[in-house]
Amino acid sequence: MPSRRQLLQSALAFAPAMLVNTSVLSKTTAWIESANGRGLYGSGAADEDFWRFIQQSYDIDRAITNLNNGGVAPSPRTVMNAVHQLQQQTNNLPAMELWQNLEPRAETVRSDLATFFGVSANEIAITRNASESLQNVQMGMPLSKGDEVLTSDQDYPRMLTAWDQRSRREGITVKKVSFKVPVMDEDDVVQAFADAVTTRTKVMHISHVVFLTGQILPVRKLCNLARSKNIPCIVDGAHSFAHFPFMQSDLECDYFGTSLHKWLSGPIGTGMLYVAEPKIKDIWPLMAAAKESDGNIRKFEEIGTHPAALHNALSEAVAFANAIGLERKAKRLRYLHSLWTDRLKNYDNVWFGTNINKESQQCGIRLVNIAGVTPAKLSAHLMDKHKIFTVGITHDQFQGIRVTPNVYTTPEEIHRFGDVMEEVAKNGIAN
Ligand SMILES: Cc1ncc(COP(=O)(O)O)c(C=O)c1O
Repeated sequence: MPSRRQLLQSALAFAPAMLVNTSVLSKTTAWIESANGRGLYGSGAADEDFWRFIQQSYDIDRAITNLNNGGVAPSPRTVMNAVHQLQQQTNNLPAMELWQNLEPRAETVRSDLATFFGVSANEIAITRNASESLQNVQMGMPLSKGDEVLTSDQDYPRMLTAWDQRSRREGITVKKVSFKVPVMDEDDVVQAFADAVTTRTKVMHISHVVFLTGQILPVRKLCNLARSKNIPCIVDGAHSFAHFPFMQSDLECDYFGTSLHKWLSGPIGTGMLYVAEPKIKDIWPLMAAAKESDGNIRKFEEIGTHPAALHNALSEAVAFANAIGLERKAKRLRYLHSLWTDRLKNYDNVWFGTNINKESQQCGIRLVNIAGVTPAKLSAHLMDKHKIFTVGITHDQFQGIRVTPNVYTTPEEIHRFGDVMEEVAKNGIAN
């Protein structure tokens, strides 16, 4: 059987020179070989030999324990090296390097992302973040006065603001479904959406992972509900892509927007939009594109001059994610969480925003509240006294601190967090 290196080398020999970033591929090969040489494949969630190798792939400041990787996450060294290298290359001769050399290679990135999501490269636009991806669809979808958008009051504020602006400007109606937290039965969420659909509903907009709680929603069931009513479904995948394993066919969504600087650990300022091919022509891009591009996914990338280094380094981020493997990554994140949630789950004054006894309902994000201690006070205590970074969350229905480790987080860091949380659960925080 050919080795991975031989396979990559033969792929290189046949690939058109313009489309392949050889330095990226050779670095990736070296990385995988080094991991293979150390017998790291097939290792599991608690195989600390493997995870130490991943921890050492990041240049970060461990003097602060970062348990706030939800908003945005650091990139591993290989990705940062690619960014610096490509930025330097750009700067040597910008008009040539940018437009003749680096931009055409974005097609490699498009194809890497498409493979990762299990779709055609002609359905993937490379954007700057989830907001840009989703707003292309939200603002570009033809809707008329009286048409209804169905979403939830746990969707991301910027995305809700986009619908609210259309409501003020064009008279569409925005309906926000509420559902109980923690979700004990995912079919309750599907039922809440089903009950809210009317003959005027023209689009559904749902989060794959609720940013407030880490709840994984039953997206496929919701998309199927929408399809059964002839309604397209926009999935906000800002917190799901490259977090745990799934592909487009697992969701059956029409539109999917995500950031790539969250769970893929891509450079900050990268995102992706998927639009099912037949639907591309019906969405007006946020920035104008020529008529000839009506059916071309690349029309969503007409944003003017921008750093190609950022999006081209995404191939390195995809290689890093593939080297870990999403199955293993999801297992690791759930394992890391178990190290502190197991210690706290029997305290009567501790509340979780997801059903922590049902693994499939959540992965790398958890919301926890300790009765009598406000999220602001708890996150300030963690940061000021213990240099542990989390974020306080307040919603009309619930509150807590959001805890989001990443693949580089060590069990020791989690145990330290668990120690502080147990102490606060027992004794509160002295004034
Ligand atoms: C659910 C959800 N959607 C969209 C976004 C927007 O992401 P970005 O700021 O990367 O555009 C976020 C950001 O945290 C989010 O959590």
